[in-house]
Amino acid sequence: MTFRAYILGAAAGGGLPQWNCGCNNCNLAREGTIPALTQSSLALTGDGIHWAILNASPDIRVQLAATQALHPTGLREVPLSSVLVTNGDIDHIAGLLTLREMQPFDLFATQGIHDVLRQNPVFDALNADVVTRQAVGLETPFTLAPGLQATLFPVPGKVPLYLEGDDVQTDLIGDQTVGVALQAGDHTAYYIPGCAMLTDDLRARLRGADMLCFDGTVWRDDEMLRAGLGRKTGHRMGHMSMSGPDGSIAALADLDIARRVYVHMNNSNPVLRPTSPERAEAEAAGWIIGQDGMELCL
Ligand code: MLT
Ligand code: MN
Ligand code: ZN
Repeated sequence: MTFRAYILGAAAGGGLPQWNCGCNNCNLAREGTIPALTQSSLALTGDGIHWAILNASPDIRVQLAATQALHPTGLREVPLSSVLVTNGDIDHIAGLLTLREMQPFDLFATQGIHDVLRQNPVFDALNADVVTRQAVGLETPFTLAPGLQATLFPVPGKVPLYLEGDDVQTDLIGDQTVGVALQAGDHTAYYIPGCAMLTDDLRARLRGADMLCFDGTVWRDDEMLRAGLGRKTGHRMGHMSMSGPDGSIAALADLDIARRVYVHMNNSNPVLRPTSPERAEAEAAGWIIGQDGMELCL
């Protein structure tokens, strides 16, 4: 068995450049000085034939066009077995609407996330005759695609933006925000595109992993405020920062993880500039800054 993955999109919601953003990073991406990035998604296979997609981003149409392994193999055949969504955020579910063309696949999520999709009748455009909605329990291994086992586990996070009430709890632990443990043969990888906090339980789980793709939304908690881009901190958005004593670089430093890859990076994040000191610091700490199209093999 071989584990092979492609980062379909390495950016957080909005992408790089974001349509309405004139920040330094977005302008550099618009002029082609730094690579543009599409929104959060990973494609992976355990047998080299059948593919699963983790999170269906609004950019999935161009992502699939750019990824030869997922091109049609027949008139109306694609090597896609399943789609799994890790939360109900728009950047992770809107692409389901693009996948509505009578194409059979399994749609995996927790019951809580399936309930969110059910509340949005537009997703009924996914024809129930061919798209099978599979509710999976937390901590319950299942076959995501042939040769690929997965297990969902709770990760601190919040409800999607469009379901926020007046009082938002940003580190809820339940079935609204999950990480994915992936097993192919002897290899174990983890995909956690959103995480508000690395608890001791989570750290213990990740110890010794062959690969981790982790939430790289912000470099520092208040970077959007400092850049005048908005009023929200990373914490308020349900994302921990990369840097600082409470950041993911420090929290994961001693866990013997063979390969660490940042995904779901917001357009405000300075690591998106290849020459930035922050990028150098993250790379010196052993992190790979994810890029669209990047191949990750185990
Ligand atoms: C997030 O990751 O915080 C969300 O994708 C934000 C959003 O829905 O725009
Ligand atoms: Mn997001
Ligand atoms: Zn921007």
